[in-house]
Amino acid sequence: MAEEIETEVIHSWSAPRSLSTSLMYSFAQRDDTEVLDEPLYAHYLKVTGVDRPYREELLSKMESDGNKVVNNVIYGPGGKKYRYCKHIAKQRLPGLSGELTKKGKHFILIRNPLDILQSFDKVVPSSFHELGLGDLVSVYSELCAAGNRPPIIDAAELQEDPEAALRGLCEDLDIPFQASMLKWEAGPKSVDGIWAPWWYKSVHKSTGFSRAINYPHAFPRSLYEVLEQSLPFYNMLRCHARQKRFPKLAKPSLPVPANEKILVWVDDELLPRDSATVSVFDSVVQGGDSVWEGLRIYNGKVFKLEEHLDRLFDSAKALAFNNVPTRDYVTSGMSPGFNLYGCTLIVLAEWKPPVYDNTGGITLVTATTRRNSPNIEGNNANADDAIMLDKDGYVSETNATNIFLVKKGIVMTPHADYCLPGITRATVMDLVKKENLVLEERRISLSEFHTADEVWTTGTMGELSPVLKIDGRVVGDGIVGPITKRLQNSFKKLTEGLGETRAVHHDRDQS
Ligand SMILES: Cc1ncc(COP(=O)(O)O)c(C=O)c1O
Repeated sequence: MAEEIETEVIHSWSAPRSLSTSLMYSFAQRDDTEVLDEPLYAHYLKVTGVDRPYREELLSKMESDGNKVVNNVIYGPGGKKYRYCKHIAKQRLPGLSGELTKKGKHFILIRNPLDILQSFDKVVPSSFHELGLGDLVSVYSELCAAGNRPPIIDAAELQEDPEAALRGLCEDLDIPFQASMLKWEAGPKSVDGIWAPWWYKSVHKSTGFSRAINYPHAFPRSLYEVLEQSLPFYNMLRCHARQKRFPKLAKPSLPVPANEKILVWVDDELLPRDSATVSVFDSVVQGGDSVWEGLRIYNGKVFKLEEHLDRLFDSAKALAFNNVPTRDYVTSGMSPGFNLYGCTLIVLAEWKPPVYDNTGGITLVTATTRRNSPNIEGNNANADDAIMLDKDGYVSETNATNIFLVKKGIVMTPHADYCLPGITRATVMDLVKKENLVLEERRISLSEFHTADEVWTTGTMGELSPVLKIDGRVVGDGIVGPITKRLQNSFKKLTEGLGETRAVHHDRDQS
């Protein structure tokens, strides 16, 4: 008696024209796998009434009762270790047994609809429904909800580096890779569905995955709407593809993991991080002109909100921005000359720990340039930031902060004529007075900073940061000085008490 083999089913879910037939041929080359070509096709044609040139022939030759297909064909007895089922997502119609997605191994094969559309349209007029990217997202979310998040592979990966893509997919499916998957014979195959003469002409010419052709054809306007409708679904799935096999999509690892799942306010809506984008037509992209403020929240309250908003609106006015959104918002702006699309409003509420080491101290170098991006020099010099000089060579501030020094007990900071009138600067100047220390606001030379007893910088992002080294010279004793510590403490106390509470969106279902 032949030994009974327990067959494990591997489900591939995709839109049409996504290299799904090539991938089925690839799996058919394995010595441990049998393949099924769209076993739910007849069920789909019967239930939807969709017309195809081969409709009658297909309905007469293929089981069209979906649940019978699931139980007897897909999960029926098999002769090999694995059964690979190629599915087109739209063929999974409501009413089908939940067993289909509950059992077996599943993966999602995606392809940019830009590449699908023209090829599909040659055989059948395309539509959002025919592409079925919405259905593909449904399959994905149903599997995720059941705790069985399926791996996602992009057809472009298979074209780019077939071996790496197939190895990665096998790893995700927890099956061994077989080198035989890389090549197959040209021509029709016994596993092909009866629709092959209509759809498989070009895949029959292939003997493996071939490199993508880079958009040699103009994209027809008639397909634009379907592209517009389908692309967001592809992009959503693409975000979850395993990036290490597709470095173009690599996301940076965020220093604060909580920022991975934040909602970002763009213009007039809240968007998940990966969907938060600005139009290329926005003048922040076209002309690089924008105004921004960074704010900090202490104990749930926005610190110095009014001051930040005042400065934001002053900046917008100075750049002659039109149609600036109301004061309730933080905005990115545009050149008055190119302002055809209005202001794009971005509120980015990320968790942001202080950017400098405020306990151990920071180092500075002096930039040789008198304006613009001295932080490049700072980075090159491996310093935390760079000091900027004014046009006469006096210290103005750093690239991202204001700067203070202490000499013989007197606190000094440059006038705010060549530096940003920082909100933290103003706050610290108030604290200096409250601490009954002497404050001088005047032009300060670089050598005074080099020979100071204590130096610190101020800014919303870094708060109050002790500077221990400037241009290789140790400041004071090379440790955080007593006045710096005193002001850090009183600044901390201030942030604990002050701040504006803003309404947050609580449970929207609350009546
Ligand atoms: C050039 C520059 N100087 C100083 C500051 C510090 O200003 P504030 O204390 O208002 O954050 C900033 C803040 O972004 C800045 O960009």
